[in-house]
Amino acid sequence: MEKIVIEGGVALKGSVEISGAKNSSLPILAATALFGGEYTINNVPRISDVETMLKLLETLGAEAFFEGNSVSINTKKISKHEAPYDLVKTMRASVLAWGSLLGRFGRARISFPGGCAIGDRPIDQHIKGFEALGYKTNIDGGYLESISAKETGGSYKFAVKSVTGTENLILSSVLAKRSTVLYNCAVEPEVEDLINFLSSLGAAINQKGETIEVFPVTSLNPQSKPYRVIPDRIEAGTFLALGSIAGNEIEILNCEPKHLDEARRAIESVGSKIQGQGLSALKVSSPLTVSPTDIETNPYPFFPTDLQAQLMSVLVLANGVSKITENVFPNRFIHIAELRKLGAEISLKGNVATVRGVKELVGANMQASDLRASASLLIGALSAKGKSEVRRIYHLDRGYESIDNKLQSLGARIWREKE
Ligand code: EPZ
Repeated sequence: MEKIVIEGGVALKGSVEISGAKNSSLPILAATALFGGEYTINNVPRISDVETMLKLLETLGAEAFFEGNSVSINTKKISKHEAPYDLVKTMRASVLAWGSLLGRFGRARISFPGGCAIGDRPIDQHIKGFEALGYKTNIDGGYLESISAKETGGSYKFAVKSVTGTENLILSSVLAKRSTVLYNCAVEPEVEDLINFLSSLGAAINQKGETIEVFPVTSLNPQSKPYRVIPDRIEAGTFLALGSIAGNEIEILNCEPKHLDEARRAIESVGSKIQGQGLSALKVSSPLTVSPTDIETNPYPFFPTDLQAQLMSVLVLANGVSKITENVFPNRFIHIAELRKLGAEISLKGNVATVRGVKELVGANMQASDLRASASLLIGALSAKGKSEVRRIYHLDRGYESIDNKLQSLGARIWREKE
């Protein structure tokens, strides 16, 4: 295993290119299994979660090539309908094969996705939603066995906004017998990107705010032209946070500013300056000292839970007290114990973290626990005085493409070593 070593306290300046969105690439790749064909998906980030999704699709019978940031995949020969334990356990987003397999074969056998560092990850909304659309699910030896029980299609109102729940039900509706209406859907840009991809294949989907209507079609015309995945707003937000550390100034290229409104508001509230640079770039300059601020995470379009840890690692150096309320994954706070090793003063009560800013952080050895927490540990180590090490960085490599190279290009003293 590898660890990342950082000599902190260096001002970071320069520009970085944002990669394609992990959380768009995964549902869009899963969607290619819905209808046999040859697809080209561009702007796909080279991250291990994409490798895992491609392995899953190959297990089902697809042939995939991943050259640069372009995936060519042929799903004509997909014949299996089982997502095996060893792949689902490494990546919960494997559940996205569920909707495609039900949509294509009317049946699917998915290994039960476990919890993870950010907490219990229930799938009751997927099961109840599929049931409402005519698919019955039983649990058999740790697997979810779903099968179409009657005319598929219908309506379902999500009890809680679920990104992959919304995506799964869309996937199972595109080729259904009857039309489908989904209420209280997640409206993340990645859901919209999936809808745009499916529509480019001839699917008939109408998104009106939190309501999504799917009119069934009997077939799809696999892509005539390559589909380009949207930029990763969470990677862009991560660099907005990093750019708020005193002395830093970062130009963020190839991003989609309109997906970052709430993140920008939060970053500007700590005193950073953010300027739009044309249609797809932002420039963030740090304040002399970070001001405290209060944030609450909520489903899009509000402040994203996936940026909570990264903003916390900025607020630990604020000149005052900040409150961070995590409303999406109530115990997504594993990074607190690690940030305390740098000297951060953070207390936790229920789903509210209170961050008392300190003057300085000092380098320490830390351990990554989940993807976004890993990013917050890097930000903490980069702003700390002296040397830090971050172990178990396979978590980081799941969702950030070559982030150490991008940081080196900004002047960071960061390298990898064997653990
Ligand atoms: C997606 O996960 C993202 N992953 C997550 O990003 C992101 O944090 C999350 O949405 C919230 O924005 C992908 O898109 C691959 P949810 P997902 O279903 O779909 C509850 C990252 O770092 N819930 O929207 O699994 C759930 O407990 C990852 O890139 C149910 O109660 O999350 C949570 O409290 C981490 N029942 C809330 O809904 C269900 O059946 C949101 O979960 C499903 C979810």
